[in-house]
Formats: sequence, structure tokens, C-alpha cells
Amino acid sequence: MNGPILEIDGFSGGFVSRAGEFTPVLHDVSYSLERGAVTAVVGETGSGKSVTALSVLQLQAPGFRRTGGQIRFDGTDLLSLDAQALRAIRGRRISMVFQDARAALNPVFSVGQQLADTWRLHNGGSRAAAMEKAVDALRQVQIPEPERRARQYPHEFSGGMAQRAMIALAALICTPELLLLDEPTTGLDVTTQADIMELLLDLARSRGLTVCLITHDLGVVAETCDHVVVMNRGRVVETGSAERIFTAPQDPYTRRLLAASVLTEDAG
Ligand SMILES: Nc1ncnc2c1ncn2[C@@H]1O[C@H](COP(=O)(O)OP(=O)(O)O)[C@@H](O)[C@H]1O
Ligand SMILES: [Mg+2]
Repeated sequence: MNGPILEIDGFSGGFVSRAGEFTPVLHDVSYSLERGAVTAVVGETGSGKSVTALSVLQLQAPGFRRTGGQIRFDGTDLLSLDAQALRAIRGRRISMVFQDARAALNPVFSVGQQLADTWRLHNGGSRAAAMEKAVDALRQVQIPEPERRARQYPHEFSGGMAQRAMIALAALICTPELLLLDEPTTGLDVTTQADIMELLLDLARSRGLTVCLITHDLGVVAETCDHVVVMNRGRVVETGSAERIFTAPQDPYTRRLLAASVLTEDAG
């Protein structure tokens, strides 16, 4: 099928405080994700990247109110789905990896158990077969000694290993069509970041996954992404192919962002 798999169209909203005051944070946000492509969403902290991505699965923090716009996935209006229809899409057709993988994993179950349980929820089958699938997924994300690791709990995993386990869960156990990654390597050391990015993009390309990568690492974007969406203060200021954005940025904010990243790289 042609055309974008996800279309965010004029999406606007904000948060209502405890005192009942409304603060708008997203202003007429529009971007789309082309099937099978890797799209990066970039912009400074607070520009609305996460709230927009969370809105796709209606996982925004309580207090969020939409004031306008639509989000369509494969032609379906996501914002009009009831809870049951949304559950059928969440994790099955669209999955998401967050910045802090250890917080996203359940501390009271072993990592293998969590992967196996999710596999069974989606595919059925025996516990033993699901655990095999879990170990296999951990192996595919290059976790050493996956059988032993599967029996361990999230607190026994390093940040990088937990992030690999989350990727195994979101991309291999869930087998989505669309993978949303919100700063998946932030907080990890640089070598681990590079390894995990490579792993993610290999998985995405080999499975024809559509990926939306929220990141502030413009180096990664230049090397690996097809399209770029630039956000600033709750607005999309520019979209285009990665090549065009990097060689001929149009918006002054994009130019500043690129200039700042060059400075940081020099300093580092
Ligand atoms: N739970 C919340 N309550 C109130 N405001 C929020 C909440 N989450 C995010 N915001 C505000 O929404 C704006 C966009 O945040 P966010 O999408 O997290 O930015 P980014 O991911 O680009 O760093 C920010 O101004 C932030 O303060
Ligand atoms: Mg964010």
C-alpha cells in the first residue's frame, strides 16, 4: 500500500492544571510517516516531541486536552477509537520504546517472563514455547547468555541491556508495523548508544518497519534517517528529506539547531 502509514493532522492541545488553568503546548502539529521509512523528530527539550508521539497511542499524562486535529493510522482515525479498539492497535500494530527502559519494565517479573507473557497475550501457545520465543528475541538484540538473562529481573540489567530488552519486546515480541522510539538511547554511554542505534535500524530495515525516532542526536539523524521533522515550541517548523534538511535548511530555527550540533561535536 502506498501513502503514509501515520498522519498527524493539525493536532493541537495542552494541559489543564490542578487549578483548572489550560496551558496550550501543541499548536497545529502536522507530520506524516511514510511506510517503511525512518523519520526523525528533532527539536530542543520541551518542543512537544514526546507529547505528540504519546498522543498517537493516547498515552499522554492525565490533564492533556486535545483542542483540535486528527491522527490517522493506516486510514483509521485513532482518536475516535474506543478503549478496546485502541488495545487492539497498541503493542500489536504500533509499539513504543521510551527513554527509561528499566522504568518501563515491570520490576516484579523476570525479563524473560515479561517478554513471554506479552508473546502469549498476542499469539497464544504454551508457556514453554513463549519463553523460547523470549530467549530468542533477547538473542536477536545481542544480549549475551540470553537463557540466563531471561531469568533475571530488570534491576539486574544495565541501562543499555534494559534498552535492548525493551527493543526486543517492542520490535520482536510485538511485531508492530510502526515503532515509536522516544530518545531510546539518551542517558547511555556513547558507544552503547551507537551500538543500540545500529541494532534498531538494522531491525527496522530488515523487517520493513516504519520508525519514528525522537532524538536530539543530529549525528544519528544525518547518518540513518530518511525524513526529518523539526519541532520548536509546540510547532512543526520544517519537514523534509534528511539530505535536504542537512544541506539546505530553510527555517532559521533548523539552521540554529544544526549550527549548535556542530559546536557540540567540536567541543566533545
Ligand atoms: N504532564 C504534563 N503536564 C503539564 N505539562 C506538560 C506535561 N508533559 C509535558 N508538558 C509540557 O508540554 C511541553 C512539551 O513537552 P514534551 O512533549 O515532553 O517535549 P519534548 O519531548 O520535545 O522535550 C513542555 O512545555 C512541557 O512542559
Ligand atoms: Mg521528550
